[in-house]
Amino acid sequence: MIYVTRKSHFNAAHRLHNPDKSDEWNRKTFGKCNNPNWHGHNYNLEVTVVGEADPETGYVIDLGVLNGIIEKKILDKCDHKNLNVEVPFLEGIIPTAENLVKAFFQELEDNINNESYGSSRLYSVKLFETERNVAEYCPNPRIS
Ligand code: NI
Repeated sequence: MIYVTRKSHFNAAHRLHNPDKSDEWNRKTFGKCNNPNWHGHNYNLEVTVVGEADPETGYVIDLGVLNGIIEKKILDKCDHKNLNVEVPFLEGIIPTAENLVKAFFQELEDNINNESYGSSRLYSVKLFETERNVAEYCPNPRIS
């Protein structure tokens, strides 16, 4: 299997807050990330597609095509936005890196699987919230 990755970048604001819990619980659990007036991150995103190289092109997926999908489905919607209130597909979730990678994967999956060669598939979505804090969603799709 060959793994192909496209790296992207976006900036966004968020707040970690569980509306079902008290303000005190939220402050204690999320600390600075619970700041009522939001805070920002410089996010780095890595989207990986797995498969075999197509015999005619040598590609698992055309990286220009992959970039176009990531721009349309994620970056156009999230870059310079408030993830809590401005992104319809994130509505109702606490925008931790964990929840974001899963939501991004689901948002990208169909388009990438349709546009990749042969049986190549979206493999994982990895999000660097900071240099040191990273979440990855990798449901290990079966390759037929
Ligand atoms: Ni944060």
